[in-house]
Amino acid sequence: MDSEELKPVVFDGRKDESSAGLSRRSLFAAAGAAGLGVVSSALLPGKAQAQSTDWLQPGNNDHVIGLQQASSFPEGQVRFDYFGHCALKITSPGGASVLFDPWRDDPSGAWGLWFKQKFPETLVDITMSTHTHFDHDAIDRPQSTMVLDRLVGQFGFADLKITGFADKHACVAPGWYKWTNALKEFGAQACPPNNVGHMDMVTYLIETGGIRTLIWGDNRHDPADGFWESIGQVDVLTLPVDGSQHILSFDQGNAIVEKLKPKIVIPTHYLNETTTYTLSTLQPADDWVKAQKSYKALDSATLNLAAADVAKMDREFLYFGNNALTA
Ligand SMILES: [Fe+2]
Ligand SMILES: [Fe+2]
Repeated sequence: MDSEELKPVVFDGRKDESSAGLSRRSLFAAAGAAGLGVVSSALLPGKAQAQSTDWLQPGNNDHVIGLQQASSFPEGQVRFDYFGHCALKITSPGGASVLFDPWRDDPSGAWGLWFKQKFPETLVDITMSTHTHFDHDAIDRPQSTMVLDRLVGQFGFADLKITGFADKHACVAPGWYKWTNALKEFGAQACPPNNVGHMDMVTYLIETGGIRTLIWGDNRHDPADGFWESIGQVDVLTLPVDGSQHILSFDQGNAIVEKLKPKIVIPTHYLNETTTYTLSTLQPADDWVKAQKSYKALDSATLNLAAADVAKMDREFLYFGNNALTA
């Protein structure tokens, strides 16, 4: 091996310990083989790699035990806290919280720097991820009693009911940046029926406080038969639409909105200047939002919704813009 190849790879001025010994070429091959993120430990024979660091996290499960012992829960508002990109925390009227899709930079470096800071070590009862891409799967970062990664089927806890529907990732880039071509270059198939595992997806329906919220993740715009019927009525719909049309195009997003007719639409997966670098190639969602019949630019990263108020709305776009919680 060339001595040049033994040098640790440096990203963002920090040494990437897991990448020591990998050349840039093998690093990219690893990204292709292992998906859009994780360098497979199989590529580092004889090296032990640290996995979860959750055993080091502060705090304990007392909050969850309290909820577990409760025999009833109050009625009230559902709280939505936005952490940028697709990371949304939902807190039930009873105080049970679930955070979806904490993000990180691609640890292989192949996809560059997307985020301006590490995902905050925020306190939450449950952490969930829709799929294994780096911008959705920093499940070790939140201080979380439970981690439910890519859950399919039903889960109930306190006054939260969560249903996961397995489907597939958007596999044709609708915008100018043909990121799906990178998978071809790595020799991976993006689309079904033989898609690589990291192009699998789970969307989540959360029922709490009389509000049904659908976390779309990076799902394709045309899900498999039975998907729409399984989901039923949606009150709050998150959709990954940005100005670059990275995951879904404006038209695809609009068609999903017309199909589900949610009361509220929350754009995700766009360039939020608080959390996200231009290097992500994402753009703000302003153009999509402003083309809608009715929209509101939110002035904070927190949104409280009561079921009775939501029921009066019709396809109202509520846009977090550059607001995001960073702690
Ligand atoms: Fe993705
Ligand atoms: Fe994504």
